[in-house]
Amino acid sequence: MNSVVIVGTQWGDEGKGKITDFLAKEADAVVRFQGGNNAGHTIVFDNKKYALHLIPSGIFRKDKVNVLANGMVINPKALLEELEMLKNGGITDFNLAISDRAHVVLPYHIQLDGLFEDLKDDNKKVGTTNKGIGPTYNDKSSRIGIRVCDFIDLNVFEEKLKDNLKYYNKLFELFGKPLIEPSNVFDEYKEYSKQIKSYVKDTGLLLNSMLDDGKKVLFEGAQGALLCLDHGTYPFVTSSSPTAASVPLNTGISPKYINEIIGVTKAYSTRVGSGHFVTEFENEISKKIRDVGKEYGTTTGRPRRIGWIDTVVLRHTRRISGITGLSVMLLDVLTGVETLKICVAYRLDGNIIDYLPANIKDFERCEPIYIELEGWTEDITQTSKFSDLPLNSQKYLSKISELSNIELAIFSVGPDREQTVVLKDIFK
Ligand code: IMP
Ligand code: MG
Repeated sequence: MNSVVIVGTQWGDEGKGKITDFLAKEADAVVRFQGGNNAGHTIVFDNKKYALHLIPSGIFRKDKVNVLANGMVINPKALLEELEMLKNGGITDFNLAISDRAHVVLPYHIQLDGLFEDLKDDNKKVGTTNKGIGPTYNDKSSRIGIRVCDFIDLNVFEEKLKDNLKYYNKLFELFGKPLIEPSNVFDEYKEYSKQIKSYVKDTGLLLNSMLDDGKKVLFEGAQGALLCLDHGTYPFVTSSSPTAASVPLNTGISPKYINEIIGVTKAYSTRVGSGHFVTEFENEISKKIRDVGKEYGTTTGRPRRIGWIDTVVLRHTRRISGITGLSVMLLDVLTGVETLKICVAYRLDGNIIDYLPANIKDFERCEPIYIELEGWTEDITQTSKFSDLPLNSQKYLSKISELSNIELAIFSVGPDREQTVVLKDIFK
């Protein structure tokens, strides 16, 4: 197969960046297809750690084309800061392509993000990353968005910026927020526009011709399926669709090219931001998991909420994203936990259910039904084969694969590139 999609099966932060970086060695192109710098992908190799927010995780491997596709929302200032961070780390030899159809995040989107959140009662706040993602997608569907092709045409950019601020400054005035002067934004951002211009192209054409030529393309999802605007735990979701179904739309390739879809899950669950989390728990074990797994947001630094693995969620994700292989991450973090729980179904008002209710009020009343498995104590961080894992660890992985009905493709026993065990030939 010459196209592989990597998607998160939970609420993001499953370790997609690590798997993308790992599989990128076989790919010719790595493509981010949705979201923006709300994402945070941590990649560790050669004792160095990099946090990426916008740039695809293939950037560390020379000769790969790294694409920011049309479904993304791109903050040009953040993008240039990220490129600077890479250059400072000695990563200078790369190939980047930015879609001319992607939308641009501007300072008023960030101010709007905060404004909308502040207006909500505490229990209704989404807990966004405050990066202006939602408001930029709003502008896209309201047909007032500024696309990259507009942004690099300074006359068009200036005109659209003035038009939009005429409208948004009225709103800011009404809510007592600082007004944003179009000329200030233009003066600063026209410099960014000049700096990114050489990377801009029709990435739909580029990707289709690469696939037509039999080149290998890796699509890197950000966030997770449960944060999908359509199939996630609405309204506590992001503003795009982090599923494999959104890849053709968000990149301009034909759906016929999508065949291998790797769903990435943690060996447990985490969530940052608000919204019900059926398997969440807080005790000594969750504290240990947060500590050992370094479960703090890459983008916001917030402590992540911890829960047991939820196979209702995995089956939901398998359905909506067509997952063909499961990648279980951070297995080593569970070493030393005496009893492991796996959620197999939910109880809702006395009934047992096997799906995520659409109505958030119903979802909030769902309680987990668990099975329990015995844990292991042996260090597994050097494991390179499934059969080398302690028996209880093998049983745990097999049970997750069986209950989610997804073949185990990869498991990971530590943050480094080397600590990855692959059981399936992914780029066949
Ligand atoms: P937004 O994407 O900033 O609008 O935030 C919407 C929700 O998605 C919030 O609950 C965020 O915490 C969550 N979110 C957005 N991006 C990520 C991510 O990359 N990892 C985990 N959660 C995320
Ligand atoms: Mg992340």
